[in-house]
Amino acid sequence: MILDGKKIAAEIRGEIREQVEALKAAGKRVPKLAIVIVGHNPASETYVNNKLKACAEVGIEAEKIAYPEEITEQTLLAEVHRLNNDPSIDGFIVQLPLPSHITETTILSAIDYRKDVDGLTPENVGRTVQGLPSIVSATPRGIRELLARYDIATEGKHVVVIGRSNIVGKPMAILLMQRPYLSLPGMSAASLGDATVTICHSKTQDLKSICLTADIIIVAAGCPGLLTAEMVREGATVIDVGINRVDDANAPRGYRLVGDVDFEHVSQKAAYISPVPGGVGPMTIVSLLQNTLQAYKCKV
Ligand code: GUN
Repeated sequence: MILDGKKIAAEIRGEIREQVEALKAAGKRVPKLAIVIVGHNPASETYVNNKLKACAEVGIEAEKIAYPEEITEQTLLAEVHRLNNDPSIDGFIVQLPLPSHITETTILSAIDYRKDVDGLTPENVGRTVQGLPSIVSATPRGIRELLARYDIATEGKHVVVIGRSNIVGKPMAILLMQRPYLSLPGMSAASLGDATVTICHSKTQDLKSICLTADIIIVAAGCPGLLTAEMVREGATVIDVGINRVDDANAPRGYRLVGDVDFEHVSQKAAYISPVPGGVGPMTIVSLLQNTLQAYKCKV
C-alpha cells in the first residue's frame, strides 16, 4: 500500500485551517511564521515557495525575508535576534543550507527555542531527547504522523534509520525509541515510539543484513536508489525521505525527483511504502504548520 503523504497532508491542512478559522472567529490574531532565505539555491527557493503556499492555504500569516548570498554572519545573527524579539512573529525558520562563510550552528543556536519551528536548536533537540515538551524537527514529526494515520504501530518493532543528520536521522531515532506517553501535543493516538532503533550511515558495514531484520526502514541518506529490493524483508514498511534531482532530458524542467529507494522493485515487497514525490515531502511542510500553531498556542 502506498503511504499517500499528499492526501494525508491535505487532510491535516484542513484541520489546521479549521483551528485558524476558530481563532479568527473568536477575534484573536492568526499565527505568523517568518522564513529567512539566503542566496538563490533553486531547491531552497522551491521549498520556501511551497511553505508560503501552505501557510496561505490554512490562513497562517507568512513573511519571506530574503537576503543576498554575501550577507555577513553578523547581519544574519542580528536578523535572528530581531525575530526573537518581534512579538508579532510566533515562529521562524532559517532555510538551510547557508552559504559556506556562515556557520550554521552559530545561527541555529541563536534562535529562541520557543520560536524554533524547525526544531533545530540545541535546546529543542535536548528537550526532545529528555522527553520534555519541545518543538520537533518537521520531517521526523511528519513521518511519525504519517505512520500514525496509517495505524502503523512501532511498539516493539525493529526500525532501521539510514542517515544520521541533525535534521532527520538523529531526531527520528529519538522519537521512535521514546516512551509513547511523551508524545507531542496534537499527535494522533496510535501507539508510536517504543521501537528498537538501529541507526545506519555511510560507514555502516553490511547494511543489507541489518535492513533484512527491519520491520520498518526509514531512508534519509540523500543517495538515489540506495535501498534495493534484496535489502527489504517481505511485508516491511519503507519510508523514503530522499529528494534527489536527477538529470532527465525528457522531463519538463530537465530533471526529475527521485528518492533513496528503488521504488519500482521495493514496492513489490513492502507492505507499506512512501513515494517520492508525494510521500514525506508534503508531510514535512504540514508539520511546519503544526509547529507554528504549537508555538502560537504556547505563547498565548
Ligand atoms: N533545508 C531542507 N530542509 C529544510 C528544513 O526542513 N528546514 C530548513 N530550515 N532548511 C531545510
